[in-house]
Amino acid sequence: MATILAIESSCDETSAAVCTDGRILSNFIAGQQVHEQYGGVIPELASRAHMQNIVPVVKAALVKSDCSLSAIDAIAFTQSPGLIGSLLVGAEFAKSLSLALDKPLIAVHHMQAHVLANLIPAAVGEKETPKPSFPFLCLTVSGGHTQIVRCESPTQLEVIGETIDDAAGEAFDKSAKLLGLPYPGGPLIDRHAREGDPTRFKFPEPKIPGLNFSFSGLKTSILYFLQNAGTSNVYKEEFKATVEEKHRFINENLPDICASIQYRIVSILLNKLKKAVDETGIKQVCLAGGVSANSSLRKTFLEKGIQYGWKTHIPAFEYCTDNAAMIAITGYYKFLNGQFSDLTVNASARAEW
Ligand code: KG4
Ligand code: ZN
Repeated sequence: MATILAIESSCDETSAAVCTDGRILSNFIAGQQVHEQYGGVIPELASRAHMQNIVPVVKAALVKSDCSLSAIDAIAFTQSPGLIGSLLVGAEFAKSLSLALDKPLIAVHHMQAHVLANLIPAAVGEKETPKPSFPFLCLTVSGGHTQIVRCESPTQLEVIGETIDDAAGEAFDKSAKLLGLPYPGGPLIDRHAREGDPTRFKFPEPKIPGLNFSFSGLKTSILYFLQNAGTSNVYKEEFKATVEEKHRFINENLPDICASIQYRIVSILLNKLKKAVDETGIKQVCLAGGVSANSSLRKTFLEKGIQYGWKTHIPAFEYCTDNAAMIAITGYYKFLNGQFSDLTVNASARAEW
């Protein structure tokens, strides 16, 4: 029996979870409202908030799981990638705890953890859903990354496609910013899009070779589209609309604009995923990452699964955005595989798998 305490602090959520033999006993997440007023995450404020949150969040996870520190077999933490100041708080906390308790330390890659969130079993009392069998493909879509990952086992993961510029979450958030919506705008685009017509406005799909993605062209075309008050999405020497006209156009058409942007982001993602399935022949297909909370992506992904005969999997909603439960499950598999780190391990903003 192995009980893992896991800590996640890569961006602007402080989270702690406890799992025993892969079953999540608790998963606490403290968000940080402080960034809203700045329209994006301010790294220095994020690390300060992590310092305030980490002790109460870890305590809450232990209390909810009814676990004492002495019952913990190992401490897993997010080592990379992320904001370095944020990562450092979780990493140093985990290392201190490991030293004080004389328990092994497990360094976890945040993006691998998003993928393995698909393996988290249902909570006690909830209906179990089938888990992906190996090998499987995972489309991981978050605020900082967009990847297609081939997963041979819980500890053998390979990135086979990724974005060459913006991530899908950034595409949502930057589009929302252009529309004057607050940060993070992804969930707001999702909400407005529910009332809108996704076929009303046309945004281009980029032609990127292989299994890679690009979203920066979409952002630029939305910028020009708004500056032309919807009449065109190409650059003009002089834009058609005044600032007032642009705002009026947005106000009068917000649901259709959001639905059309969302339609294009989702089609870029799922067309590449289909290509990956066709090239690899792997039909076990998962979604992961914060953007997999998007209602249109979830729905269209499941529809494509039925259409093309894929076995589709999406983690429970609370395990899609950043959380420590996914660090715990990844830590658990690394524990079984004997993959421990010593106290010289450092947090890293960027790291290979
Ligand atoms: O995985 P995540 O929680 O954090 C990172 O590791 O980046 O992903 C956060 C991203 C943000 O860009 C946020 O706008 C986006 O996920 N997101 C959504 C939705 N919920 C979260 N994007 C579109 N629709 C949503 N419902
Ligand atoms: Zn994430």
